[in-house]
Amino acid sequence: MVRSIPDDTIQRIKNAANIVDVISEYVVLKKAGRNHLGLCPFHAEKTPSFTVSPEKQMFYCFGCHVGGNVFSFLMQKEGLSFPDAVRAVAGKYGIEVPDDQLTPAQKIQASEKEKLFRINEMAMHFFHANLTDAQKGAKAMSYLIGRGMTRKIITGYQLGYAPPRWDGLLNYFSGKNVPATLLEKAGLVIPRKDGNGYYDRFRDRVLFPIMNVNQQVLGFGGRIMTDEKPKYLNSPETPIFNKGRGLYGIQKANQAARASGRVFVVEGYFDVLAMHLYGLENSVATLGTALTPEHVQALKGMVGQEGRVYLVFDSDQAGIKAAQRSVPIFEEGFLDARVIVLPTGHDPDTFLREFGPDDFLKFADNGLGMVQFLMEAAIKRHGLTLEGKIRVINDVQEVLASVQDAVVRTLYIKQLSERLDIDETALLEKIRQAAGKLQGSGRSQTNVRPGVSMPEASRLELQIIGMMLCYPPMISEIIGRNLLDAFEDAKLKLIGQMIANQGNIEQERTSNLVSAIEDPHYRNLVAQLAMTECRWDRQGCERVLAQFESRSKRRITQDLQRKIELAEKNNDRELVETLLMEKQRQAARGLINS
Ligand code: UTP
Ligand code: MN
Repeated sequence: MVRSIPDDTIQRIKNAANIVDVISEYVVLKKAGRNHLGLCPFHAEKTPSFTVSPEKQMFYCFGCHVGGNVFSFLMQKEGLSFPDAVRAVAGKYGIEVPDDQLTPAQKIQASEKEKLFRINEMAMHFFHANLTDAQKGAKAMSYLIGRGMTRKIITGYQLGYAPPRWDGLLNYFSGKNVPATLLEKAGLVIPRKDGNGYYDRFRDRVLFPIMNVNQQVLGFGGRIMTDEKPKYLNSPETPIFNKGRGLYGIQKANQAARASGRVFVVEGYFDVLAMHLYGLENSVATLGTALTPEHVQALKGMVGQEGRVYLVFDSDQAGIKAAQRSVPIFEEGFLDARVIVLPTGHDPDTFLREFGPDDFLKFADNGLGMVQFLMEAAIKRHGLTLEGKIRVINDVQEVLASVQDAVVRTLYIKQLSERLDIDETALLEKIRQAAGKLQGSGRSQTNVRPGVSMPEASRLELQIIGMMLCYPPMISEIIGRNLLDAFEDAKLKLIGQMIANQGNIEQERTSNLVSAIEDPHYRNLVAQLAMTECRWDRQGCERVLAQFESRSKRRITQDLQRKIELAEKNNDRELVETLLMEKQRQAARGLINS
């Protein structure tokens, strides 16, 4: 494993970090005994099986079998490399990881993502300084003030202004020795068609830095201040920026959403800022895309299982479109969502200005669930005549069919049958037909991984690893009897050896070990063992060890015997001799039956 950070620094960071704090930024955790429980951020579920242990500094999901320590959590959640995950934790706790701890060769290797984050952050400062410069930023500043933004918002969200020239950012970075190829990777500059150098992507635009929960800058959105097109220009997809995952404003909304158990998803950048102006800091916007399952996971991480998401739209049409697409995603994510369509001509900004946040909240609470919203929208459109009802059913049947949970689906159908005054069984039959068609089209299923299944031999070996982890007195016994040598699973064997070689720092043992295991399957297995309640006693251990020993003795004996017979059949005297000697040696070490 490439490690650009010294072990003692990593250890210091680990000692300072609390896994519960770090994971709490992604998952709403509730204390349950010695552990904390929440909804797993790695798969869709409605009853929490995601467990975090402050004592062990580990997490494990009993539903999808993903587990590890604070670093592996960030690696999986944010797609970071190990050194980047370590740096992210260090950053949270204000621990410096100086660059000079890296050798020059390692510096070159320092991960690309890390570099892109740094470049984006520098760019953000550059744009912000440009905006707040009395001369250079005057026009953009008055545009923002004219749209009701305050100094506090401008600073809080680090809004910026890109200079009206082709090389503003390029010049800034060339003075800092950052190569243009990296700026291109960050999506900040574009290569000239003639192959001669680069030019700035963002010019003469107001810029909105888009961050993750950790305040790292993923990319930018930029609005032109005239009626030119495109109105908004966003960073392109980069190794750190993905439009289908990002949520504008999440760095501020996360805390507030957690506290109130609700989060508003509005349409645009300015809507987020307007909501914040009126005290509704728990607001985010997608980046001009429809909601994705990744968004829904992130929203669930903000409000938890009992929380609620409000989708706020300026118009019926936008709301209907979004609801149609989002019903299956929210249903699969088991997250309660309401649709709010603002009165005609209003967006969150104008609504809040005219009626204030209290009325906004009242309005929000009258919002319908997504399926109800779609039913009502269809009824509004087609009316309740006989023909109208038929059209309503046609409009909503596909959405109803896409609801995975059969009980929930039946409840919706019952509601619709009452609303339309139509026989429920007939309606059920029609929806079932639509569901059949949908299933044929191979829609994606929830991503719950199948439970861990292993061959019998490995299962015993896994038990022994578990024993070593939570009943350390057995370790010397296991080593003394050479049991690890007989492991068939090479990776489990290696893990066993790592445990045996570690000092006796009980609580830290597993968490450290997990960092060293590169294969995610085995990392998850070890996390599972560590997080499962320890049920070993000496007698139980002895029994499993005896079982394993006799099994492997039998296997090795049979193996040898088979080889000897084959060699004899081939008249290979020499080989037979060697094998017989091997047999004697093994017997002497007690590894086989003599
Ligand atoms: P809107 O056109 O509703 O913009 O697009 P807005 O937020 O109301 O902007 P203002 O108030 O006119 O300044 C909503 C969102 O769709 C994305 C942006 O994320 C925007 O905030 N969008 C829109 C783009 O990405 N590109 C565009 O050209 C337009
Ligand atoms: Mn708008």
